[in-house]
Amino acid sequence: MERNNILNIDIERVDTPCFLIDEARLKYNLSILKKVKEKTNCKILLALKAFSNYAVFSIIRKDLDGVCASSLNEARLGREKFGKEVHVYGAAYSEKDFLMLLKYAHHIDFNSFSLWKRFKPLTKKARRSIKYGLRVNPEHSEGTVEIYDPCAPYSRLGIVREEFKPEELDGISYLHFHTLCQQNALPLYRTVKAFEEKFGEFIPKMEYINFGGGHHITKEGYDIELLCETINEFKKKWKVEVYLEPGEAVALDAGYLISTVLDIINNKINIAILDTSAAAHMPDVLEMPYRPFVIGSGQPNEKKYTYRFGGISCLAGDIIGDYSFDRPLQVGDRVVFTDMAIYSMVKTNTFNGINLPSIYIINSETGKIKLWKKFGYRDFLSRL
Ligand SMILES: Cc1ncc(COP(=O)(O)O)c(C=O)c1O
Repeated sequence: MERNNILNIDIERVDTPCFLIDEARLKYNLSILKKVKEKTNCKILLALKAFSNYAVFSIIRKDLDGVCASSLNEARLGREKFGKEVHVYGAAYSEKDFLMLLKYAHHIDFNSFSLWKRFKPLTKKARRSIKYGLRVNPEHSEGTVEIYDPCAPYSRLGIVREEFKPEELDGISYLHFHTLCQQNALPLYRTVKAFEEKFGEFIPKMEYINFGGGHHITKEGYDIELLCETINEFKKKWKVEVYLEPGEAVALDAGYLISTVLDIINNKINIAILDTSAAAHMPDVLEMPYRPFVIGSGQPNEKKYTYRFGGISCLAGDIIGDYSFDRPLQVGDRVVFTDMAIYSMVKTNTFNGINLPSIYIINSETGKIKLWKKFGYRDFLSRL
């Protein structure tokens, strides 16, 4: 499928700033994930932390097995709006939240034996059968950016082998590791080997192993064959089921953020002020950091007219990046940022009182466009 195929949409029709969620690209991503399921018989969950817009859950639900949630609210969303398996992992739970989780979750992971020991008696309060698991840390780093590496030194995410207590496994049905971020299948293959080396002796006691997220399965060039081989070999060797819980791969390239140029100023360089904000609408641009792609743009000075895109907030560092264009920008021009469904929509905030972007659902193949939500003062007020 052609990347960034938004050209069928009349972007002048939408109010900005706004997110567009593209059903056609979602379906394309899901068709790839479905093939992985068919070839391996693994289960695949949507990681809600990456993308949780329930407007399109009816599409995702057809091909995936459920969701993985990071909190009580996400677990409830999964249960009420997605309606299949709800898995939960949190670095810790309060007793109050844990008791509520028993209502919404089907699978709950613990991040330590101390938490498992403390909450095990509470599991008796569950009104239906729930499976419990442990997140382990294979201490095998594949990431280069420390804040996105759960295996970085002193990580709090997952139980390391020295802390693992085989005598406490009664009641535990699965192990879970999550170590990757935007990675191909070879890093997963190596991680599986590291996991087997450290925790292999416990695998036969388990019903399944959750290989976490961070698999860039729907990105061009991803080695799907190696992913499937890795899963199939593992299943054959250990006689257990395998789960994957990608977030990015489900909604990769399935969202746009459209904004409007509000002003153009000069301070040695041309600066376009947009009606959006990195700080409020796409915080990963600053946090990761990265430079989102803008349709029709080039690298700075690659095309004739270069601009720095600045956000509307007061933060001096609210800078999205430098971009060049074939023609000069004008006030009122639309600017389209790509790949904005994942980790942008879930992270928006109302810093400076800036309005949240509206949300439209589109189909880039048919040109269909539908307003899902608009936000205003009441939404701002309700958070204060
Ligand atoms: C435990 C866990 N599972 C799944 C994911 C989803 O990862 P991704 O969106 O990169 O596939 C994350 C992301 O941080 C995670 O922490």
